[in-house]
Amino acid sequence: MKTNYKPYFINIDTISDKRGILKYLEEKKTNKIFKFKRIYFISNVPKSVGRGYHAHKKTVQCLLTLNGNFDFCFFGKKKRKNKIKLTDKSRPLIIPKMCWHWMENFSNDCIIGVIASSNYNEKDYIRDFDSYKELIKKNNDAQII
Ligand code: TYD
Repeated sequence: MKTNYKPYFINIDTISDKRGILKYLEEKKTNKIFKFKRIYFISNVPKSVGRGYHAHKKTVQCLLTLNGNFDFCFFGKKKRKNKIKLTDKSRPLIIPKMCWHWMENFSNDCIIGVIASSNYNEKDYIRDFDSYKELIKKNNDAQII
């Protein structure tokens, strides 16, 4: 069976009234996708800088754009570059395991929150694209690249 490494949006509960907007995400809603273990934040990324350029062997992540905007990029079928413009209006984006991704074109005010399914472990990272392609091939998951 082919695995799908494509990122996808999930819904977030929103309560909006004259006092403002309240959004929340509970594990009971996401536990079929992953369980929360860690949260980290990215901010102050210079405009010309790209981040990411890796995949995770096991970790699933949920990306929340808290402020500003940036481009989330990944490879689709036939190595086509896919770009999603994420803003603070965007829904949470699930980054499945083994999804090679990178982020670029950050606005000055961009702040991202990432909820991850595991503690930080460098061994979970695949940072070399050729190794990534090899692993995908080995698993016969040829639909991505
Ligand atoms: P990295 O995940 O490579 O950042 P990005 O994908 O945004 O380019 O992480 C950058 C550095 O921070 C790297 O040395 C690992 C470290 N780090 C932690 O120590 N803990 C964490 O939870 C994260 C996400 C990164």
